[in-house]
Amino acid sequence: MYKSYEELKFDCEQCTKCELCKTRNNLIFGAGNPNANVMFVGEAPGENEDLQGKPFIGRGGQVLDELLESVELDRKTDIFITNILKCRPPKNRDPQPKEQEACIDWLQEQIRVISPKIIVCLGRVSAQKLIASDFKVTKQHGQFFEKDGILMMGTFHPAAILRNPKQKPQVLEDFLKLKEKINELSKG
Ligand code: URA
Repeated sequence: MYKSYEELKFDCEQCTKCELCKTRNNLIFGAGNPNANVMFVGEAPGENEDLQGKPFIGRGGQVLDELLESVELDRKTDIFITNILKCRPPKNRDPQPKEQEACIDWLQEQIRVISPKIIVCLGRVSAQKLIASDFKVTKQHGQFFEKDGILMMGTFHPAAILRNPKQKPQVLEDFLKLKEKINELSKG
């Protein structure tokens, strides 16, 4: 159990719990505001993220930034962004269950230390790990579920929007619901 964000980050960055530590250039702990009320959780770093050490900076990151901007959320101040896996799977293949198992304790500690009120799961892998193992993004996106006192919502992954731009308006609606929820919570 970690008391401080910095201590957790330091230890996480030395992680050798799975084979991905051998192929990574950088471990991507996360970025944004560690005091934010809202946490975004993606799947795993891609090539650009692995090279630069930051989450969501490729084309998917641009899509995410546009969506955030359209609901006046700033990725540096209003949210914290991380992933289920902290290291890039070779050739961006899906995270394997054993990799997710090895990595999940870091995310659980991040959730404990950052203590967000809302978690947004970007894509199936994240939603199935954090909300429900049978979560269906196409059917359940935009709905809030309360788990351990945290409101969780799943939506489409930015990479899925790039593959299928028709999903973008649905994701924008989910972001508007998120904004409403943030406003509701800030009124107490
Ligand atoms: N896709 C993700 O799920 N996370 C990233 O950080 C980048 C791309």
